[in-house]
Amino acid sequence: MNKKTVRDIDLKNKRVLMRVDFNVPMADGKVTDDKRIRAALPTIQYCLDQGAAVLLASHLGRPKGGSDPEFSLRAAAEVLSSLLARPVKMAPDCVGPEVEAMAKELKPGEVIMLENTRFHKGEEKNDLELAKQMAALGDVYVNDAFGSAHRAHSSTEGVARFLPAVSGFLMEQELEYLGKAVANPEHPYIAILGGAKISDKILVVETLAAKCDRLIIGGGMANTFLAAKGLNMQDSLVEAESIETAKSLLGKLGDKLVLPVDAVIADKFDADANTQIIDVDKIPAGWRMLDVGPKTVEIYKSTLKGAKLIVWNGPGGRVQKCRSLPKAHLRWQNSSRSPAR
Ligand code: 3PG
Repeated sequence: MNKKTVRDIDLKNKRVLMRVDFNVPMADGKVTDDKRIRAALPTIQYCLDQGAAVLLASHLGRPKGGSDPEFSLRAAAEVLSSLLARPVKMAPDCVGPEVEAMAKELKPGEVIMLENTRFHKGEEKNDLELAKQMAALGDVYVNDAFGSAHRAHSSTEGVARFLPAVSGFLMEQELEYLGKAVANPEHPYIAILGGAKISDKILVVETLAAKCDRLIIGGGMANTFLAAKGLNMQDSLVEAESIETAKSLLGKLGDKLVLPVDAVIADKFDADANTQIIDVDKIPAGWRMLDVGPKTVEIYKSTLKGAKLIVWNGPGGRVQKCRSLPKAHLRWQNSSRSPAR
């Protein structure tokens, strides 16, 4: 990889401002899956071993403006502390005089978790004043937040303008995998795309589609494609402003796209929702598609059979909260947990 990494810079006695993706699932104030925290450990540990102090920045969820305890990174800091077996100080904010004082006092080997960057409205607007204030906390910037790298926010793109910036190991590894998938893929090459929004991933769809043999569309994105085909998705999440884009992709990519033919639908998005399996063209009024159904699972399985390379981005469904899951759905969720690269 021709990008500089933490290996390429001197970290001794440096304050490292590190962007991580600790946007972890939470329930009742507790982290329910620490995978993303564990994924950042090698870079954090390396910086500490090299004699640096580490200030971690991340977003969590999508708070609607201002500080909100529901979206605090405190629980993530506690998990990190036990994984690192050393204290992790929780900062009251990601910028401001109190945080600056904490950063100044930081000694090599110490770790601070900055509070949710999205508590500042400027974060998502890539406000450069906010970025500058964050940058002032460190001597170097390390980006290990691969999951957030597609967002040009103050704590990702903005801050890199004000400090020497390098990648962490997670970022390096992901770029290597993706580089291979884009530059020299083995065939059959199947891509799976999920997640809520086409608008977030339009370039990914086009880039992957140009290289792969089939492109499986799942998650909320599939709803918009199905709506673009003229189906009534009822209360499903559909990105109305992307329907025209979806239509044009359907026209360009045709049979390369694999879309769901049946769905797990629910009458609300809640743990005690009623669910049923139904063909995608028969969703009744008041119901929403939350995942693919068993016929689709079979189509996905046969599409993936024999693949030499599978690139997967984004979740394929949103029903993990529902208790009344049909068994067929669980099969897809389980299979979707194995890493696809
Ligand atoms: C993710 O979980 O996909 C990343 O952390 C980005 O989160 P966002 O979609 O809220 O920006």
